[in-house]
Amino acid sequence: MNDMRLIERAVDMNDTKISARNVQVYYGDNHAIKDVNVDIADKTVTAFIGPSGCGKSTFLRTLNRMNDTIDICRVEGEIKIDGEDIYDRNVDPVQLRAKVGMVFQKPNPFPKSIYDNVAYGPKIHGLARTKADLDAIVEGSLRKAALWTEAKDRLHQPGTGLSGGQQQRLCIARAIATAPEVLLMDEPCSALDPIATAQVEELIDELRQSFSVVIVTHSMQQAARVSQKTAFFHLGNLVEFGETGKIFTNPEDPRTESYISGRIG
Ligand SMILES: Nc1ncnc2c1ncn2[C@@H]1O[C@H](COP(=O)(O)OP(=O)(O)OP(=O)(O)O)[C@@H](O)[C@H]1O
Ligand SMILES: [Mg+2]
Repeated sequence: MNDMRLIERAVDMNDTKISARNVQVYYGDNHAIKDVNVDIADKTVTAFIGPSGCGKSTFLRTLNRMNDTIDICRVEGEIKIDGEDIYDRNVDPVQLRAKVGMVFQKPNPFPKSIYDNVAYGPKIHGLARTKADLDAIVEGSLRKAALWTEAKDRLHQPGTGLSGGQQQRLCIARAIATAPEVLLMDEPCSALDPIATAQVEELIDELRQSFSVVIVTHSMQQAARVSQKTAFFHLGNLVEFGETGKIFTNPEDPRTESYISGRIG
């Protein structure tokens, strides 16, 4: 192998943030994720697409052990982040979820003030030494989530008093306040109007500078707009994974082709 190829390979390997190997997920007898292998790159937006029930949310939740909270759920195989097995018994799931943040389909702010929603994570993880530090984290996170202008004069009012789209941006601010390395988003725009959706998409593009972002979406337009890599799931299988442009214009698998052209799903 010549030097150039070696360098390219080294860069490729460094770019992997999350590697999943032979991942199976079961809910009781239901084999929901079947032998998934994938490498998710750093500083990249990866979209998970596929028909309802194909396992997108299930697989997404394996990446920060959110499935641990579901009694009947069993995960097998290996998931490494920066080469470390996240299912190792020494890994604290609470620490892991600060590093691998998550935003859900339905905005779920805590029943606390806007300020406290964002400050909660940094506080419990000891990320701020002083009140001024904490204020700065709250402001910075709300700014990044494009909510600062609307929230700055009502920081001490309840987060649940915001509109749905504002609540979702609050949840994004809360997720990024702990300075995660990976952000998992499960249909984050499904409760948003087109303007808020555009704001969140813009934000996702900015977040990519600092994190690895994984987004589940039912909108193929959204996947095409925001992601560089796309994974197509079908009946629990990862059918195809690759460059977003390639998946949408020239997929290899007939099932991907059917889905993107609207014949299945
Ligand atoms: N908490 C749960 N308990 C039992 N079975 C579950 C649970 N969550 C998901 N499943 C099952 O796992 C399979 C995959 O579901 P999942 O929610 O991951 O699909 P999805 O691709 O996210 O679908 P959607 O696009 O509708 O959100 C389905 O058969 C579903 O019924
Ligand atoms: Mg889902």
